[in-house]
Amino acid sequence: MNPIIESLWKRKSVRAYTGQQISEEDKRLILQSASEAASAGNQQMYTILDITDQNLKDTLSETCDHQPFIAKAEMVLVFCVDFQKWYDAFSMAGCNPRHPQAGDFMLAAMDAAIAAQNAVTAAESLGIGSCYIGDIMERYEIHRELFGLPDYAVPILMAVFGYPTEQQKERKKPLRAPLDFLVHENHYRRLAGEELRNGIAPNRGDMDFEEWMKRFCSRKYHSGFSLEMSRSIQAALDHFCGRDQNKDSEISGNSETPGNGKPSETL
Ligand SMILES: Cc1cc2nc3c(=O)[nH]c(=O)nc-3n(C[C@H](O)[C@H](O)[C@H](O)COP(=O)(O)O)c2cc1C
Repeated sequence: MNPIIESLWKRKSVRAYTGQQISEEDKRLILQSASEAASAGNQQMYTILDITDQNLKDTLSETCDHQPFIAKAEMVLVFCVDFQKWYDAFSMAGCNPRHPQAGDFMLAAMDAAIAAQNAVTAAESLGIGSCYIGDIMERYEIHRELFGLPDYAVPILMAVFGYPTEQQKERKKPLRAPLDFLVHENHYRRLAGEELRNGIAPNRGDMDFEEWMKRFCSRKYHSGFSLEMSRSIQAALDHFCGRDQNKDSEISGNSETPGNGKPSETL
């Protein structure tokens, strides 16, 4: 197995750190690796907030669903959707830009997530562990204030980094679903019956299916954090799209939209 594939297969989340500092050189390598990722139109529609202020880390460890290990991470990166810089540059150049919408948000979110995965993979290659924190999508209004975000910048993913403790190194990586459960040829195959029951939660072990699903559902899906995440992202999207300021009426269903019926510009 080549070293890149080996590293991808071995990588698991790290949530406890030795306290060893990450050198400036390694930090730069990680950030530069993030910036080397593919992005739609090479627009790099993200901004990475490098959180070095311990007070901010402490606050995030509370606002992101009370996860104390965030405050102990050596490096904390917040990946934000960022269309603000493009909107401002379009305005600066006299393009009279439309207000950004859900499609722009999604493209930027993909740019941000792909950059984050490059950062995580680069860190792994340097022996530095990491853990994603999706809870940065909660409490949009608080985080917007905390980071001083303009209208078209939204935090969507956080990754925290540090050297793994021995216990973390030895922790067994959770199993993944079988490949044929995840990959369907040509058409979507809706999973059901035994295949769904057996494939959906590979870490269930011997626990009764119904019991495991009920516990997981109340912990992850019906839980307060999950409901808050949905509320917060809806609020962020409404603000990004200007729906809370009636800015979006100008684009929906416009058949004169550039590119309509024509070969699309490559992203
Ligand atoms: C989008 C996303 C959000 C996540 N959010 C959290 C989080 O808030 N807290 C946490 O401890 N782990 C979080 N994780 C890590 C997952 O729990 C972890 O990747 C998963 O359980 C598989 O375990 P492994 O990464 O150790 O293989 C997140 C992962 C992703 C991809």
